[in-house]
Formats: sequence, structure tokens, C-alpha cells
Amino acid sequence: MKKITAVLIGAGMRGREAYAPYTLDSHSEMKIIAVAEPIEERRKIFCELYGIPDSMSFKTWEDLLAQPKLADVAMICNQDKDHFAPTMLALEKGYHVLLEKPMSNKPDECVQMVRQAEKYGRILTICHVLRYTPFFTNIKKLLEDGVIGDIVTIEHSENVAYWHQAHSYVRGNWRNTAQSSPMILAKSCHDLDIICWLVDKKCRKVSSFGSLKHFRKENAPEGAPERCLDGCPHKNTCPYYAPKIYVDWNGNWQADILKKVVSQDTSREALIKALREGPYGRCVYHCDNDVVDHQVVIMEFENDITASFTMCAFTYENTRKIRVLGTKGELWGDMDKNYIEYVDFLKGDRITIKLNQSEQGHGGGDYGIIRDFIQCIKENTDSRTSAKKSLQSHLMAFAAEESRLNNKVVDMDLYLEAFGK
Ligand SMILES: NC(=O)c1ccc[n+]([C@@H]2O[C@H](COP(=O)([O-])OP(=O)(O)OC[C@H]3O[C@@H](n4cnc5c(N)ncnc54)[C@H](O)[C@@H]3O)[C@@H](O)[C@H]2O)c1
Repeated sequence: MKKITAVLIGAGMRGREAYAPYTLDSHSEMKIIAVAEPIEERRKIFCELYGIPDSMSFKTWEDLLAQPKLADVAMICNQDKDHFAPTMLALEKGYHVLLEKPMSNKPDECVQMVRQAEKYGRILTICHVLRYTPFFTNIKKLLEDGVIGDIVTIEHSENVAYWHQAHSYVRGNWRNTAQSSPMILAKSCHDLDIICWLVDKKCRKVSSFGSLKHFRKENAPEGAPERCLDGCPHKNTCPYYAPKIYVDWNGNWQADILKKVVSQDTSREALIKALREGPYGRCVYHCDNDVVDHQVVIMEFENDITASFTMCAFTYENTRKIRVLGTKGELWGDMDKNYIEYVDFLKGDRITIKLNQSEQGHGGGDYGIIRDFIQCIKENTDSRTSAKKSLQSHLMAFAAEESRLNNKVVDMDLYLEAFGK
């Protein structure tokens, strides 16, 4: 069968590491035939690995999309605030689009993208990869099978992990709202999306609290320099000391990914140089970050269902945990520990489901979404995470931020009216 062809916009961590490798498998039904990436070294390495000729290698998405339509699909994996323009143009040019989350850092742009996909009759799928993990697909199935009766409330938490917060949300790409997105959108649109998917009802009200409590200049220990490697006197007592996270930490996939973000060359010397010069060597108390380090959101859905969500930086584990309370039972699970348990009130037995989660990114979700996307193109059907389906949770994230900043409960009907929804 003829392979589906794709262009990749942004050969960064997600484009290069999460989705593209799937297409290298000989059984893959998709082939990447062009790339747009401004960083020359990244572009060259990518072209070599994927056999892309010079004529199909572009510096920017603007250059790539200025060509006549090159392929069936555009995978758009550049940064949050730059998703809108290439997505709108790619849809107009007739590409089906696989777009990284969040759709955009502006609510009205999210709405416009949904309309654009409808206007041009194209598939626009958002990378809410958690919906494709064995963990959440099993929970969804159990709830649909009614093992705990009707859902009454959900308690969901995202345990970000202290090192992950420091990496992405203090020193890294998503540290500053104006330059990227608020944390509830950048990180937790996944979680709000999962809650919406499990509840499967319209959200009526959203309220939120949270702040940047810790990673602030006034919390710097005495004498902490701007950069860890400038002789920080706290190197043995600070959990955020950069060389500890990026050089000394070894032996698992998360440590490997962190190193690759800091430097393409992951030798000790190259990493130390990058920490001396680049953003990841900065003291966590001396960065230009402003996104929250903890936030809670409470939600009310139709059918009197409630949900609460807690995102917190200050955890040792990097996992998501969920508890769903129903009229006839209770279900809970830990994504990183690969288990789901539930109890039926009448029977009283605790049923444990041990999952065989894939080693691939996001517990198998990264490859799961591509497989589903390919299937949707072949069958011309809507995907599990179409832009239309993802819009509610995105707008809930914007509403939560409005609630947090303005100290109010947001009525979702009134909020949606503002966008003509
Ligand atoms: N689905 C998920 O679970 C998940 C996880 C992490 C990040 N993300 C999202 O994925 C997106 C990318 O994140 P990342 O970690 O790969 O970031 P990244 O910075 O590593 O990659 C983005 C790439 O886009 C390139 N780029 C910049 N301008 C461009 C242009 N004009 N044309 C083409 N490419 C351009 C950059 O050079 C970079 O290589 C972000 O929106 C992020 O929020 C999603």
C-alpha cells in the first residue's frame, strides 16, 4: 500500500524524539519526506536519518508552506505560541494536521483552528497523548462498563517532580507565560482533557487557586550566584543544583532526555559547557520565570459531577494519580506504577489490574496517537483527540487561569459565549 506522506515542522524534542521515530519502523504506514527546522545542526541530523534530500529541507515553516502542497500530513511541533499560523495555513493548503498541544496560547485562536479544519474538511488532531495510553484507556473502559456505577467525583493529580519543574518551568521553555503559556495550559491541558474525557459531560463551572510560591529571587539561599557553576556554596544542599540534574544523574530515559535538551553532544565536557553558558545552568532562584509551581482547579459538570485537580512541582515521583468515586464503587490508579484498582461496594473485593505500559514516551501514548491518526486518515474519520474534542478542555484551562488571576468562579456558558461557541 502507498505510504501516507508527512512533513515535519519543528525537529525539536517532540518532533524528533516522540513522533518521527515511529515512521522509521518498516511496518509504518507513514513516511516523512520534508522538514522545516531553523537550527542547522538539528535539521542536518534529521535529514540524514530520514533520507530527506536538500530540496525538501527548509529553514522555517514559512519556507516549507510557501511550496505547493508536498505531502498528505503536516506534523506541527514548534513552540506553543507559534502553533496558530502554520496550522491555519497548512489546513488551507490541504494538509491533515497533527498538532502538538496546546493548540494555541490564545483561546480565540483555538476556536478559529477548529473552524478552519471544518472549512477545509481536514483532520486536525491535537497531541493529547494520554488518551492513547493503556492506563487511561483502561480506566475509560472500566467506567463505561459501569464497574463503579455512575461517576460522582474525580480527584486527579499531576505530580510534576521537583527536577522536571526546574527543567521545564523554571529554567526552560515554559517558564514564562508571555513567552509560552500559563502552566495550567502548557502542562495540565492534558489533565483537564483526561477529566473531560472520563466525565463525558459539559463543564459548567471552573475555579482555581495557585501561585509561584518557591522559585523566586527572595527565596535564594544567601550567596547563591546567578549560575550554579559559579561556585555556588549550596551545591551539596540544593536539590536543583544543575550539574546534579544534568551531568551526575544517569541510567534512565528521563535523564537521557534532559541531557539531550541541554546539549546535542551529551559528553560530560559539552554538558558542563552548556551549563556554564546556556539557560539550564541558571540558579533556579535567579531565572525570568513567572509560571506557577502549584495550582488547584475545581470543576462542576452537568449531571452534578464534580472534579478536582492538583498540579504540584514539589513531588519526588513524576506521575499522575487518579481516584474516581462512583455510586456503586471506587476506582484509583497510579500511571507511573502501572496499576489500576477498583472495588465494587456490594462485592467488596479489590480488583487489581497490572498494566504492561510501553517504554515509549508517555506510557505508549506517543506512538498510540500516530497509529490512530493514520487510521483516521485512511478511514476519513474523526480522531479521539480531534481539535473539536480538545477545545473544551483548552477553554477550561484558559478559564481556570482567569479564575486564578481574577479570584472568581468562571461560568463556562458565559465564557464560551465570548468566543461565539
Ligand atoms: N504532547 C505532549 O505531551 C508534549 C510534551 C512536551 C511538549 N509538548 C509541546 O510540543 C511542542 C514542542 O516542544 P519541544 O519540547 O519539542 O520544543 P523544542 O524547542 O525542542 O522544539 C521546537 C522546535 O521548533 C523549531 N522552530 C522554531 N521556529 C520554527 C520555524 N519558524 N519553523 C520550523 N520550526 C521552528 C525550534 O528550532 C525547535 O527545534 C510545544 O508546543 C510543547 O508544549 C507536548
